[in-house]
Amino acid sequence: MSGRKLTIGLFGFGVVGEGIYNVLQQASSLQATIKKICIKHPGKKRAADPNLFTTDAEALLNDPGINLIVELIDDADDAFIIVSTALRNGKDVVSANKKMIAEHLPDLLALQAEHGTSLLYEASVCGSIPIIRNLEEYYDNDLLDSITGIVNGSTNFILTKMAEDGLAYKDALLQAQQLGFAESNPTLDVDGYDALNKLTILLAHTYGVAARPTSLLFKGISQLHPTDATYAATRGYKIKLAAQVRRMGRGQVAAQVLPQFVKPDSQLFGVRNEYNGVIIESHLADQQFLYGKGAGRYPTSSAVLSDIAALRYQYKYEYRKLHSPEKYSVTQDYYLNVYVSFNNWSEVSKWDFESIDEFHSTQERQYLAGTIHVEKLMRADWFQSPAVSLIVMPDGLVRKDAIALKSIKKISLQLGGIFE
Ligand code: HSE
Repeated sequence: MSGRKLTIGLFGFGVVGEGIYNVLQQASSLQATIKKICIKHPGKKRAADPNLFTTDAEALLNDPGINLIVELIDDADDAFIIVSTALRNGKDVVSANKKMIAEHLPDLLALQAEHGTSLLYEASVCGSIPIIRNLEEYYDNDLLDSITGIVNGSTNFILTKMAEDGLAYKDALLQAQQLGFAESNPTLDVDGYDALNKLTILLAHTYGVAARPTSLLFKGISQLHPTDATYAATRGYKIKLAAQVRRMGRGQVAAQVLPQFVKPDSQLFGVRNEYNGVIIESHLADQQFLYGKGAGRYPTSSAVLSDIAALRYQYKYEYRKLHSPEKYSVTQDYYLNVYVSFNNWSEVSKWDFESIDEFHSTQERQYLAGTIHVEKLMRADWFQSPAVSLIVMPDGLVRKDAIALKSIKKISLQLGGIFE
């Protein structure tokens, strides 16, 4: 089987769009050619044949000679219109738009089923790492206990530069932007939305749950305080933004994106700069680890290229776990061991914690280490406050049945009467 010829309509000629154009020029064995490129701003100088460019989306979407749309634009709403029209028009689609996919997964599933078309999006999660196809093809639910990963290259780059080179947060972010890792709106990276969108996609391919991204537990790195870095350094930890999906019992999974302290014995400890890494855990295989560049022109292009190659052989995600009779849903009925730092006690509610095991106060900052129920955390006003930093302790996710709740009264002495 030599595969079908692909004639591509490309949307977007930014960091990744230009990358895929360059790569396809050299990958003649793929038998995939770009017929037209749709761009938003015609005035810009671009390093490609000017005859390829148009601003008319319909010219690509309605061209019967184009059998594959590669969508690499920034705007998630426009991307959804392009992708859904293409699928309706009988064209297969490759997309890297994690926000669009995470927000519209049920619609995109329905469109593929109705029109017999295929949408592939390996580049949307962890850049060059082949995580989606692996989860889809290899790991049935009973082979999977959890996945924990660094899925955002920009925040990992920023945290690495701050911890290793002493760079200020703003300067590290600027570098991530200049290197083409960050989103055009970097709030999506630093406030955790990008990782959250990726988590949502992973959730569908691990346990077949199509969740609304903002219904999940998340917090980014923009509120981290220098005191947090000192706390980490004195204990030999690193701070990482970790996305996690963990089976919690029959039919239930925990799903969260939160800053996390990582110990040297974790595979995530050595994941630096724009690299991503995903630990896959199962009771049979124990731990497996996937590692690679998670952002940047060519790492992302490599995943797009792999999807294009797969479509020559009409590959489709089967979404077996979504269609499986064994249904999972997201639970908030579990506990987290967390470190929380803040400026003064009026910024957090100590009564939200099941127990507080450590407390420290300086003129500059206060912090505590304690255990909190996730439902309570998600309802707490202080949780999303930019003044409050929350970091999960190593192995800090605790099942409801595993926790020995401690009496909060015990600690009033340690806290020097602060609970009175
Ligand atoms: N802004 C994203 C990141 C790009 O930093 O991971 C790749 O999805």
